Amino acid sequence: MSLDSILSAPFLAPANCHAQTVTEVEHFTDRLFRFRMTRPASFRFRSGEFVMIGLPNAEKPVFRAYSIASPSWDDTLEFYSIKVPDGPLTEHLQNVKIGDTVLMRKKPTGTLVLDALLPGKRLYMMSTGTGIAPFASLIRDPETYEKFEQVVVLHGCREKPELAYGEELVAQTLADPLVGELAQGRLHHYTCLTRESHPRQMRITQALEQGYVSRDLGMPPLDPTDDRVMICGSIDMLRDCRAMCEATGMTEGSNSAPGIFVVERAFVD
Ligand code: A2P
Repeated sequence: MSLDSILSAPFLAPANCHAQTVTEVEHFTDRLFRFRMTRPASFRFRSGEFVMIGLPNAEKPVFRAYSIASPSWDDTLEFYSIKVPDGPLTEHLQNVKIGDTVLMRKKPTGTLVLDALLPGKRLYMMSTGTGIAPFASLIRDPETYEKFEQVVVLHGCREKPELAYGEELVAQTLADPLVGELAQGRLHHYTCLTRESHPRQMRITQALEQGYVSRDLGMPPLDPTDDRVMICGSIDMLRDCRAMCEATGMTEGSNSAPGIFVVERAFVD
C-alpha cells in the first residue's frame, strides 16, 4: 500500500487520539510549511499550548510535540512545521495533502500560556524559526490584549523567505474582525535575519542586548517590573534568552507558580 493510500484511507484512531482531516497546506520554503486540520468538537486548549501529532502510517505511529498555531476560539487547528529530510515524522508529514488523516493525542499541555505569567504591561514573545508557532496562537487571542498593553513578537530567522509565515500572520491578525482592532498599534512585529542582508542582520538576542529593539520600538530596556517574556526556539536560543532575562532579575514562571518569563522548546527536529 502506498503512503498516499494509507494517509487518505478511513482510519480508526486509538483511544487516546483524535483522527483529523487536513483542510489546508502551504509550503513556504524547502524547510518550512504549515497545515490546518479539522478540530474535534470536544478538544479544548489554551492558546500557546502544544499537542502530540502523528500519522497513521505505521502500526506504532511516531508522535512529535507541535505547538498549536491557531487561537483557542478557531474551529480548525493550525500547525507550523519544519521539514527534516530524515525526520521520523516530518519526512512524511511534509507530504500531507488536503483530505489526509493526521493523528492528534487528546491532551494539550505547555507553559507558554498567559496563566503562567504575572500581570504586566508589555509582553515580549521571543522566537526563532518555527518557535513563532505558539505566538501565532496567542497574538490572535483577545485575552492577550486584555492582559497586556503592548505585545512584541520578536522573530529571528536565517533568510528572508523564512519570515513569510510571521509576516502573513501579523497582517492577517491586524485585519482580523475579532482581534484586529485590539491589536492595532499594540502588536509589534520585530524581525532579524542572520544569514542574509537585512536592516537588522543579527540574532534577536543581539538586537535586544545591544538596545536596537528598545530604540526602534521606543520602549524601555527589558525590565522585570513591567515586562513579561515568553521564549520559544532552539535549545541554544532558549539558553541565551533565559540568561538574558535572568540577568535583568526576571524569574521563571510555570502553570503552578506564575512568574516573569516562561520558556518552551520549539520541539520538532
Ligand atoms: P544563526 O544563523 O547565527 O545560527 P535555525 O534555523 O537553525 O533554527 O535558526 C533560526 C535562527 O535562530 C537563525 O537566525 C539563527 O542564527 C538563530 N539562532 C541560533 N542560535 C541562537 C541563539 N543562541 N540565540 C538567538 N538566536 C539564535
